[in-house]
Amino acid sequence: MKVISTEYSQILAARLAKANGSDLVDVRFSRFPDGELYLKAGQVGNEVLVVGSVTDSDALVQLILLIDACHGAEITLVLPYMGYARQDKQFSAGEPLSARAIAGILSGGISRAFLVNVHDPGVLRFFGIPVQTLSLAPEIGRFLQESGFYDPLILAPDDGAALFASEVAGVNGWDFDHLEKTRISSEEVSMCPKKLCAEGRDVVIVDDIISTGGTLATASRLLYGQGARNVYAACVHGVFAGGAYSHLIASGVREVYCSDTIERGCSVYSAAGLIADGISRC
Ligand code: R5P
Repeated sequence: MKVISTEYSQILAARLAKANGSDLVDVRFSRFPDGELYLKAGQVGNEVLVVGSVTDSDALVQLILLIDACHGAEITLVLPYMGYARQDKQFSAGEPLSARAIAGILSGGISRAFLVNVHDPGVLRFFGIPVQTLSLAPEIGRFLQESGFYDPLILAPDDGAALFASEVAGVNGWDFDHLEKTRISSEEVSMCPKKLCAEGRDVVIVDDIISTGGTLATASRLLYGQGARNVYAACVHGVFAGGAYSHLIASGVREVYCSDTIERGCSVYSAAGLIADGISRC
């Protein structure tokens, strides 16, 4: 089995190939003069893992082209970050169900797929092939173990991320909680940990995605207001739209950590081992 990737997931793919004991296929990427994407892949053999996060339209087109370039081989798709997955409902008439559209396109020509912490596992039903989502929470817990936090509290920014926070905390037997919003008036909302006090503690806010950073920056300010000693942020997918990284640091977050499902300067833990294990179990 060989491993091949889009330009957007080269580092993760190289780590995955190493963890899987597979060869990494060389691919050259360029554009036609009119801006259209082009690629040329080396020999993929009979069985190949195609790795590519969908972070934007170019990443999506490159992934579609790469799957086509592997036509004839048995293809396992590794979709570390599935962009468009948050539009998983038709919230109002006339909207696309984007997660269904993307899953439908990517299912063509592949035999199975692996995702990492997809925002809502409900979207898996849109793939027409066997598919599973893997959780990086234990890996994040192991990474945080080394950080020397004082009386750590792992905090989800909302109850939707509470299970994720419990999985991260569970690795080290640390406390976990989630923030709860209370509406004070039509304009004012307060947020505080549901059960535990943040005062004097190192708090790590964990979430599947940091997009604009708005959720975590608001939480960070509130936690400092409640006497937190230090606030950190850890996520799986570092989207960091619109200057989110700076926004978080400016809000007082000491360090921002993410994985290599989207390759960033602060990608300090890898999804490669998790994906390799998931593949070996199937
Ligand atoms: C939403 O439910 C997700 O889990 C994240 O909380 C959300 O995507 C974060 O978005 P932002 O960084 O823009 O606040």
